[in-house]
Amino acid sequence: MALLSWSDSYRVNIKQIDDQHKKLIEMINTLHDAMKVGKGSQVLGEVLKSLIDYTGSHFATEEKLMKLHNYPDYEHHKKEHNLLVMQVLDIQKNLQNGSAPLTQNIMSFLKEWLVKHIQGEDKKYGPYLNGKGVV
Ligand code: FE2
Ligand code: FE2
Repeated sequence: MALLSWSDSYRVNIKQIDDQHKKLIEMINTLHDAMKVGKGSQVLGEVLKSLIDYTGSHFATEEKLMKLHNYPDYEHHKKEHNLLVMQVLDIQKNLQNGSAPLTQNIMSFLKEWLVKHIQGEDKKYGPYLNGKGVV
């Protein structure tokens, strides 16, 4: 069973962003499935790396849009992104050097972070950017 499913409550009403969030959910599910079936750290490392890369380009998309339209809460939002990137790089490092394997707890952390961030921070810029003509 998928760890996370798309819900309309995640919609920020900007097509490009909603599509990227759907893709992120899909990638978290792929990582979760790989962990559940006991894939080795090399495969998990590869899946995690694509998730990290995609997350990086997703955050860059959001930050560019927010900055372009002078979103007032830009700095705070970017800080949340930076914090997650640091945490995920830590998870990657621990997986690579064998000090901490990928666990259900880590998957729950990723899932909860994403849901909370989308429903909290991301949903806040939706109406603002819509008002600037971004849909
Ligand atoms: Fe987002
Ligand atoms: Fe965000």
